[in-house]
Amino acid sequence: MFQTEFLDIPALATAGGEVRLPGSKSISNRVLLLAALSEGTTTVHDLLDSDDTRVMLTALEQIGCVLERGASTLRITGIAGALPAGTAAELFLGNAGTAMRPLTAALSLLGGEFTMLGVPRMYERPIGDLVDGLRQIGCRIDYLGNAGFPPLRITPADVSSEAQAPIQVRGDVSSQFLTSLLMALPLRAAQQDIHIEVVGELISKPYIHITLELLARFGIAVHNDNWQRFTIAAGSRYRSPGDIHVEADASSASYFIALGAIAAEGAAGVRIQGVGAQSIQGDIRFVEAAQAMGAQVDSGPNWLQVRRGRWPLQAIDLDCNHIPDAAMTLAVMALYAEGTTTLRNIASWRVKETDRITAMACELRKLGATVEEGADYLRVTPPARPADWRAASIHTYDDHRVAMCFSLAAFNPQQLPVRIEDPQCVAKTFPDYFEALFSVCETPRERIPVICIDGPTASGKGTIAAEVARRLGYGILDSGALYRIAGLAAHRAGIAIDPAHEGEIAALVRALPIRFTATQQILLDDEDISQAIRSEEAGMDASRVSALPAVREALVALQLGFQRLPGLVADGRDMGTVIFPDAPLKVYLIASAECRAERRYKQLISNGISANITALRADLEARDARDMSRSVAPLKPAPDALSLDSSTLSIEQVVTQVLHWWQERQPFKSVLKG
Ligand code: DC
Repeated sequence: MFQTEFLDIPALATAGGEVRLPGSKSISNRVLLLAALSEGTTTVHDLLDSDDTRVMLTALEQIGCVLERGASTLRITGIAGALPAGTAAELFLGNAGTAMRPLTAALSLLGGEFTMLGVPRMYERPIGDLVDGLRQIGCRIDYLGNAGFPPLRITPADVSSEAQAPIQVRGDVSSQFLTSLLMALPLRAAQQDIHIEVVGELISKPYIHITLELLARFGIAVHNDNWQRFTIAAGSRYRSPGDIHVEADASSASYFIALGAIAAEGAAGVRIQGVGAQSIQGDIRFVEAAQAMGAQVDSGPNWLQVRRGRWPLQAIDLDCNHIPDAAMTLAVMALYAEGTTTLRNIASWRVKETDRITAMACELRKLGATVEEGADYLRVTPPARPADWRAASIHTYDDHRVAMCFSLAAFNPQQLPVRIEDPQCVAKTFPDYFEALFSVCETPRERIPVICIDGPTASGKGTIAAEVARRLGYGILDSGALYRIAGLAAHRAGIAIDPAHEGEIAALVRALPIRFTATQQILLDDEDISQAIRSEEAGMDASRVSALPAVREALVALQLGFQRLPGLVADGRDMGTVIFPDAPLKVYLIASAECRAERRYKQLISNGISANITALRADLEARDARDMSRSVAPLKPAPDALSLDSSTLSIEQVVTQVLHWWQERQPFKSVLKG
């Protein structure tokens, strides 16, 4: 996840490949409960791993389900509609409404003794309407805190099986109350039909639709009489479907469907795994809207494949009431359409995470679009000519969907980057959204920015590079580490580091199984050598090995491979001169020999390695002399490098200076904080 103040997405060119989206939370917890009530074993594929599913799983184990966890599957053996005699448990359900409510309904019908607990926020979330519904048929549920709210105590009751009167439940507070009854009441439908009547307008019908679909997959048919009255047929019994796939979140799929329509020019397209056109989620109908704009969509039971069809896209005029969340993605697709796109009947946008109509209008205008905003509609006309596109810093209003949909503006014909402010707001539904996006986007290497930080030994390059990379969300190339690894490998192989063995060492280097982990560990053949290469001896070997032209050549491709989306900070000796000569920012970091010897001394001592400051200074001066005088890629500033003497500066001051230079080179108006 990008936890930066902003994320600059370079201009993107094409898209292709496969992306797997996180599972839908609503589906995950429903499937778990239904599998738990069923007879037999259900293999659940692609379950969402989140706080809410974890508390559900723990609770199900407590009531007697058997769980077996696999790599991407979970096998759950249910209780076949009855609890083992005398079951009693305290269940902690965190802040998961999708666990608390349906479990309350199921357990109060099953006849054990349960205390239903959660986090403090859970005790502010209403459950009274559901409890009232369950009490109508004799369930015994007591409030342990405030009436109408968890925590709850459930005790066995003689649930009347003769109750013929419909069970009434309010539909206008949370559709989860109705969902809970629908999922639990088949437990009482052995002998007779069960009727449920909705009181008041039923909100969130697409979620009830999901419930009904999943019930059907577990063998329970429910008759839906105009969303007002539901009937569970006598004789209903939960039957495991054997295997069940949790669909990926259909709203999250909209960004990748749009991506395919905008940028997947090849035959293959963007393949979205985890959700298909037959999805039970309401937002899947975004596919039809995308097709109307030009997307070519193929689909199977659990996948979608999207390619660019008509180009430019076709403007549309659409009532979006049925896909309110996914329709935001259409507003950004409209930037690539011929003509004006009108999205109607979207008044609900005004009361979501933010006023989405105003937010979308404001940010689309920043990109150069002409936007008309109404009480319940949005009309978007794209920039008239490529030259009318603007580089924009997109404000995201703590709204995950604003952040995700505007990333698609990076395909603009003017090849401008797009800045997404507060990118971590995507965590609400899709923490790794940007990583997933970058994994299926391509752009020419020269568009991926590189910041080079070169300089002599112990000038602080590594520290500065790491911090600058962290603030920008960029990757890091510690090129010195590669020479250190090369030195270590030669040493271990017993090859003398001298020109006579240059070819041999270069061949060894080309075949080195090096891996950099996400946590900055360096692995050589799966051995963590991060510490071993940091010794002074390894530094000397590195300096010697780096003077061999064939070895340097052998490391070029590996270094270029680090230039990946969204950007790179590379530190070393020749980043700006040889490896990335076109980098838009090159910093040459220096510090006095005295100061560097002192820094290295402190570093070694704090790592528990004894050191002598005079010897260190002599060593680093010798190393500098060799690095500067060698014939290939000698240490020297690139002609266009900016020099920075860090002798008297703090790390923060140096980082601020580098970021300031970087910001000066960006087309965005927004100024960095701090
Ligand atoms: O930055 P460092 O101390 O980890 O680098 C170790 C040695 O590798 C250094 O003495 C010179 C060499 N090196 C190089 O020649 N070119 C680079 N880009 C990085 C390091």
